[in-house]
Amino acid sequence: IQVTFITREGQALEVAAAEGASLMETAVRNGVAGIEAECGGACSCATCHVYVEPQWREKVGEANAMESDMLDMAYEVAPNSRLACQIRISPELDGLTVRLPMRQV
Ligand code: FES
Repeated sequence: IQVTFITREGQALEVAAAEGASLMETAVRNGVAGIEAECGGACSCATCHVYVEPQWREKVGEANAMESDMLDMAYEVAPNSRLACQIRISPELDGLTVRLPMRQV
């Protein structure tokens, strides 16, 4: 399963993702800069904020209530904002592309 992170500088980083891992873990394991993930994936820090590319929004789905509340803490939240620790990698997400925000919180 391949996923792509578009960095703040606009560079596309394609990395291999393991099924069942979170998108946040995938970023951290691959040394993708810009995901801080201070809480380690507990949905309580909002420093794993990403923007899901429009064509992927439906497949990725919407944030649940707890995630939406936490997203309020993030910097420049948009309708396609998600917390990467709450996105679970599955084969359906092969090719997923997300953009990193200019900064976390
Ligand atoms: Fe803390 Fe995602 S890693 S909210």
